[in-house]
Order: sequence, then C-alpha cells, then structure tokens
Amino acid sequence: MKKNIIIMGPPGAGKGTAAKKLIDLGYVHISTGDMFREAIKKGTALGQLAEQYIKRGDLVPDELTIGIVKERLSQEDCAKGFLLDGFPRTLVQARALEQLTKEINRQIDVVINLDCGEKELVRRITGRRICKQCGAPYHIDSLKPKVEGVCDLCGGPLYQRNDDNEEAFKVRLEHYTKETKPLLDFYQERGLLRNFNSLGSSEVLFDEIAKFLKS
Ligand code: AP5
Repeated sequence: MKKNIIIMGPPGAGKGTAAKKLIDLGYVHISTGDMFREAIKKGTALGQLAEQYIKRGDLVPDELTIGIVKERLSQEDCAKGFLLDGFPRTLVQARALEQLTKEINRQIDVVINLDCGEKELVRRITGRRICKQCGAPYHIDSLKPKVEGVCDLCGGPLYQRNDDNEEAFKVRLEHYTKETKPLLDFYQERGLLRNFNSLGSSEVLFDEIAKFLKS
C-alpha cells in the first residue's frame, strides 16, 4: 500500500471528492483549502489574512501555507499515512515539502494527478455545493443530495463557496497553469507522477485509484 500521497489537479478536478473517499483506506486527509476555510470560519488571524487571497482566487503566500502544513505533518496521526490535497501548489512549496518530509523521516510515495478538461471544470465549480457541517461535496446537477439543500451524510445545510464563481475560477485556473502545473514535471522527473482522467463517475475513479494505491 502506497503510504504518503499527494493529490494534484486544477480547481474542480475532483481532488477533494476523491480524497474524502480515500480516508476510508486509512489516510489522514490534509487539505490546505479546508484548513484555510476552517480558520476563516473561526475568525483567527490566519483566517482573516487568508480570506483576502482566497475570495479573489489568488494563492495564499507560501510562508503561511508551508507553516500550517509543517505543523500538521508533525502530528502523530500522520505516521499512519497522509494524503495532501491542494499542497504543494508552487515550486517553493514543493521544495519545502521535500525538506519537511526529510526532517520527519518520511517520503512521498506517489503523486496522483487528476484532470477532466476546462469545460467540465467550470461546470463543476459553478454548480458545486458543500456541507457547512462535514464538508461533503455535492453538485446541483450531477451529485444532488436526497433533500435539496441538506447533506445526506450529516443533515447539515449546503452552501456555495465564495470563490466558486466564474470570475474567481478564472484567476484560480491562471494560478494553476502558471504556478502549479509545472510541478507535474517536477514529480515526473522524480518518478512519482501518476495521471488519472477524472471525467468519469467519482465511484469509478475511486476504485481505479484505490486499486493503484494497493498495488
Ligand atoms: P482548494 O480548496 O484546494 O481549492 P481548489 O484546488 O481550487 O480545488 P477545489 O476544492 O475547488 O476542487 P477539487 O479538485 O477539490 O474538486 P471537488 O472534489 O470539490 O483551495 C482554495 C483556495 O485556498 C485556493 O484558491 C487558494 O487561495 C488557497 N490555497 C489552498 N491551498 C493552497 C496552497 N497550497 N498554496 C496557496 N494557496 C492555497 O469537485 C468539484 C465539484 O465537482 C463538486 O461539486 C463535485 O461534486 C463534482 N465532482 C467531483 N468529482 C466528480 C466526478 N468524478 N464526476 C462528476 N462530478 C464530480
């Protein structure tokens, strides 16, 4: 079983959806986007700072992002295997992660890259709804809850993220193309990259990824 993994891909590729299913295989899910949204909800100093960047679709500065990942990775539960979702997103972050994993005597075993094409990304992002309580993702057309506006899993209310509009998506995609996509070469050179097409159903994708991780 591959132990420590990174899930990469443009906004809306399905990183969070796949990661939340992979938790069942025993991974600790570390999503920098979720961590920032939690800090914003709690109104912490980090949250207030991050919110300015996130609502415009910009990246939160490297030193802040690396700091929260460093703290989280050093916690004991990560020893059983972790799944990084949305980190690293820049070359500076990728190099910092190499240093961090070395310091805690761990290594990245595989980098899973998801993509489904720009047209589908826009459709997913603008139609996404998320549970305010447990974070489960839904979609207004392709992943509807049983009762409109209510989470199937915990009964929490569904909401739309304030960066899930076409304007912020454009900025997010630009950052992805300029700063994050080059990391695919970085991980390819290290022999760690594995590409998956995420256009199909999330169940089929999960089965494919799970089979690969267990191989
Ligand atoms: P983050 O939360 O990481 O957002 P993102 O990378 O833009 O990715 P998303 O969460 O939007 O999409 P996803 O790929 O997880 O798709 P999902 O599974 O939800 O980051 C947000 C912001 O935080 C950034 O813009 C930045 O400002 C900041 N930030 C975070 N990390 C940072 C870092 N390292 N450095 C600097 N700044 C950072 O799916 C999307 C939709 O599609 C859902 O509705 C879902 O139901 C649907 N769907 C998913 N899979 C399928 C499928 N297979 N078939 C049909 N529908 C599907």
